[in-house]
Amino acid sequence: MKIKYLLIVTTIVATLACTQKNNGIPVYKDLSAPLEERVLDALSRMTTEEKVALTHAQSKFSSAGVPRLGIPELWHTDGPHGIRPEVLWDEWDQAGWTNDSCTAFPALVNLAATWDRELSLLYGRSIGEEARYREKDILLGPGINMGRTPLNGRTFEYMGEDPFLASRLVVPYVKGVQENGVAACVKHFAVNNQEVRRTATSSNVDDRTLYEIYLPAFKAAVQEGGAWAIMGSYNLYNGQFNCHNKKLLCDILKDEWGFDGVVISDWGGCRDYDEAVENGLDIEMGTWTNGLSGAASDSYANYHLAQPYLERLRDGRATREVLDDKAARVLRTIFRTSMGKPHFGSFHSPEHYAAARRIAAEGIVLLQNDGTLPLRIPEGGKLLVVGENAYKMMVVGGGSSNLKAQYEITPLSALQEAYDGQAQVVWERGYVGDTTTVYNKVVTGQDLGESRDEGTLLRDALVAAKDADCVLYIGGLNKSDGQDNEGTDREDIVLPYGQDSLIEALAAVAKKMVVVNISGSPVAMPWAPRANAIVQSWYGGSESGHALADVLTGEVNPSGKLPFTMPFSLADGPLKTPRQYPGIQEEGQEWWQEYYDEGVFIGYRWYASKDIPVQFPFGHGLSYTNFSISNASIKQRGKDGFQLTATLTNIGEVAGAEVVQLYISDREASVDRPVKELKGFEKVFLQPGESRKVRFTITRDDLSFFDADRHGWVAEPGAFQALVGTSSEDIAACLDFRLK
Ligand code: BGC
Repeated sequence: MKIKYLLIVTTIVATLACTQKNNGIPVYKDLSAPLEERVLDALSRMTTEEKVALTHAQSKFSSAGVPRLGIPELWHTDGPHGIRPEVLWDEWDQAGWTNDSCTAFPALVNLAATWDRELSLLYGRSIGEEARYREKDILLGPGINMGRTPLNGRTFEYMGEDPFLASRLVVPYVKGVQENGVAACVKHFAVNNQEVRRTATSSNVDDRTLYEIYLPAFKAAVQEGGAWAIMGSYNLYNGQFNCHNKKLLCDILKDEWGFDGVVISDWGGCRDYDEAVENGLDIEMGTWTNGLSGAASDSYANYHLAQPYLERLRDGRATREVLDDKAARVLRTIFRTSMGKPHFGSFHSPEHYAAARRIAAEGIVLLQNDGTLPLRIPEGGKLLVVGENAYKMMVVGGGSSNLKAQYEITPLSALQEAYDGQAQVVWERGYVGDTTTVYNKVVTGQDLGESRDEGTLLRDALVAAKDADCVLYIGGLNKSDGQDNEGTDREDIVLPYGQDSLIEALAAVAKKMVVVNISGSPVAMPWAPRANAIVQSWYGGSESGHALADVLTGEVNPSGKLPFTMPFSLADGPLKTPRQYPGIQEEGQEWWQEYYDEGVFIGYRWYASKDIPVQFPFGHGLSYTNFSISNASIKQRGKDGFQLTATLTNIGEVAGAEVVQLYISDREASVDRPVKELKGFEKVFLQPGESRKVRFTITRDDLSFFDADRHGWVAEPGAFQALVGTSSEDIAACLDFRLK
């Protein structure tokens, strides 16, 4: 714990006690006074009971302020894709408001697929405005856990498999949210990479892996994004629950990184009385009213950081200094948000819908195309759309990111709109997947009932395909249990509901076959050679359908890039044993144990280093135009910096954007390093024929690995290679250089 900081707090508390400004306003109420002075002044006026009240929930989604002093409470909200509908004070049930239907923004994996820092800022700003309008102070997001296994049910809520990509994208998101006086609560800290037994598994990870793969995005969110809040995760790390994990919260987050905001428990994630006090947790929030198991009526007083905390303070087991530190952090958050400068926000504005549509479209990834896309249906022709995901609304469901959207445009309705008057757009369902239309009492209003059996559905689709100019299959996953859903993981990456054979059957009769996979995580595509084009789309929020239609019709030239690898099969991946995933039970251990034996080799770091072919590599994504990279060169800059330049040219017929990617390969490392690691990317928009010079600065940090023995980053002198390309596999130039 930060002993030095605590001492300063207590001394200044004594001297500043109850200061007033000349105008008679107490310092803590004076918005123009320095933040720390306000915090100390407020602390000096508070009783122990008032301080303890700050450190735990008072309702499902709020924690107390100090009513006697006019210090407002904090309202928390999910996150991370829109502002959650209101629930009752003490229950998960909907409050039944009629004015809480938000703009649903695309899932974070969709944002990650844009590889666009500016769009991340736009996302953060827009959702921050919605949060402010709804008088929320803490947005429970973004989620930035790394894609260790494609099976993780929450992959759709995260930003992919690469720490550099997630770091660069989380920073603008956090800044954008916080510009509105709303704290971004970055989650779930840390090594929370699966949903299976998420509250009962210890992720056992070595330091090098922790620092190189699982921490960088959190560090960037804190140090560069200036995040005001962090959420501890449900799992244990190296044997201690993360909502009060000393190493993660006290040693790394607060001491090493200097985080001055609040640590909030995941809902019900606090599990131990003494550790909750001592190990860096600042606000305990609960799934049920008693924190974990459930209670019929208000029992917030029983939270670990409520009455039990007061008892510990009274009998000397807990210290005032630690309490002051927690209270100071909560007050700082209140002064930054609910009692900060006035902000008003805005709610489902045209700008927000435009932002949602743009982000959704720019994240859509064109995986394969023989020229069939953009879709040109002859005048009066027929486009047959097959698949449940063309019709099913997807904003509802998935766990805590479930939203009540003001509206949601489905792909089918957007395509009908796009081809209105030009071509016939016909829909066949093809298969029955998930017929639920209600989640946590939020209803979509759709009827997904189906009277036809499997055989009839297939036959109907095949008959309709025969005279169609193109069959557009829109399927994939959804947000039901065992798919892209909080609380469960998938069992495999194979498409559910027999979709593989349906796609094969359609491809055999279709004139042209385009497949759109809507999912939040990787799926196997064994039918890929039979498809003329394949598009990876995501849960795109309110404007999902428009965004997809924009890309399919060519209104928007696709520029999304995969934020994770699409392997051929699960078996190709790095997690080979139950010890690695989903964890094992060991003699004498209360909790499940999981070992990150694969070390830093996850995602493309694994496939590329082991030379395992993949279906579509990390960073892959095509365009309706073509780009070339030329004149790549590297120069030494300063003692141990380098500058790489390359020229990107749009050599095709239409305007479009390409993401130039820089990977570094350490050729003479004393430790086993991945053959390449992403260290730079730039998204560049070019008119046909236009060229632009792209520059990357390579610093020692980009060349380093984490040396656990020295507890520091090490860049070893020797040979390196800089790889510049348009995906982790499509490398246009390899440049050798040496670090002296
Ligand atoms: C989830 C969090 C979420 C919280 C509040 C938890 O179950 O893990 O991501 O923010 O609930 O809804």
